[in-house]
Amino acid sequence: MSVIATYQLTKVFPGGVRAVDGVDFEVNAGEIFGFLGPNGAGKTTTSKMVNTLIQPTSGTALISGFDIRKDPGEVRSRIGYVGQDVGVDEYATGRENLTLYGRFYRLGGKTIKQRVNELFELVDLIGYEDKMVSTYSGGMRKRLDIAMGLIHQPDVIFLDEPTVGLDPQTRVHVWDYIRDLAKVMGVTIFLTTHYMEEADHLADRIAIIDRGKIMAIGTPAELKQSISGDAVTLSPGAGKANESQDFISRAEAALSGQAFVIRTQVMDGGLAVYVEHGESAVPEIMRLLSSHGIEVGTISVSRPSLDDVFLKYTGRTIRAEEGTPTTYAEVQRKRSRRQ
Ligand SMILES: Nc1ncnc2c1ncn2[C@@H]1O[C@H](COP(=O)(O)OP(=O)(O)O)[C@@H](O)[C@H]1O
Ligand SMILES: [Mg+2]
Repeated sequence: MSVIATYQLTKVFPGGVRAVDGVDFEVNAGEIFGFLGPNGAGKTTTSKMVNTLIQPTSGTALISGFDIRKDPGEVRSRIGYVGQDVGVDEYATGRENLTLYGRFYRLGGKTIKQRVNELFELVDLIGYEDKMVSTYSGGMRKRLDIAMGLIHQPDVIFLDEPTVGLDPQTRVHVWDYIRDLAKVMGVTIFLTTHYMEEADHLADRIAIIDRGKIMAIGTPAELKQSISGDAVTLSPGAGKANESQDFISRAEAALSGQAFVIRTQVMDGGLAVYVEHGESAVPEIMRLLSSHGIEVGTISVSRPSLDDVFLKYTGRTIRAEEGTPTTYAEVQRKRSRRQ
């Protein structure tokens, strides 16, 4: 049986924003399910509905077989929600925070004591139990948040953008930790993120959500396989953004009929050209464009990534906040530079 199943789950906010629009997906026991989409896609709203924190407009969801509308109490006892704004008391210790949460779930004193010790070990916070949370680092805070979501041994834990605001090194640490959690505890994890590499790195399966709709679901490998060929990305170059529309339509017209081109895709400020072999296609592309008098500013070749998958299904790229490393390689590079 699936741990989470949604049925045409929909949320229309007052004022008419259709934040979540007929969403169907299933999450299997023990898997890390990545819910990937740009800011405003409807990830948090979906997560909150499934967690009974807000009411769906229509549709429903089952958690371990219990309906979020009919059995919200049963649902709540089986889920842990770690939102972006967790109610941690800064001026209490880690232990006090966890204990309070345990009482909130009506666990007995002895059970709480035992769980708190187990959880501190699990999240690698031994020695910090009795320190005030205000003295914790960002990564320690996040690990405490996750421990709080686990106090009542839920079937599934929801992590909403768990690494936003963390520095790259801490992000990788939290990734390792989340993976261990799934393996060691066998807990099902529903992870929302707008970082492609985070989903790619952690998730067994990924749903891509955009504007409230699920665009694709599959393993990272399946999603990437749905993109055939390498992507050669062309743009008119820096300072020529105002010419990009003209550039794109002319380049597309010149290339789209060519035998070696699988397909082309318009993107923000440029054109993605999918071909069998990126490197060998570049000279051919340059020759063709130049014969049409089209001047290329920048050209780059990449293997299919989740970014291409996202582009294929939505026609847009996901862009993380500026300056935030979004690829695992980038994070690793930064980490090794620091050491
Ligand atoms: N309480 C609310 N009232 C009105 N609109 C909202 C509310 N919460 C979210 N939205 C809108 O719903 C859409 C989806 O938001 P959200 O689920 O937070 O996206 P994500 O978590 O993917 O960034 C956005 O357009 C957002 O502005
Ligand atoms: Mg969100």
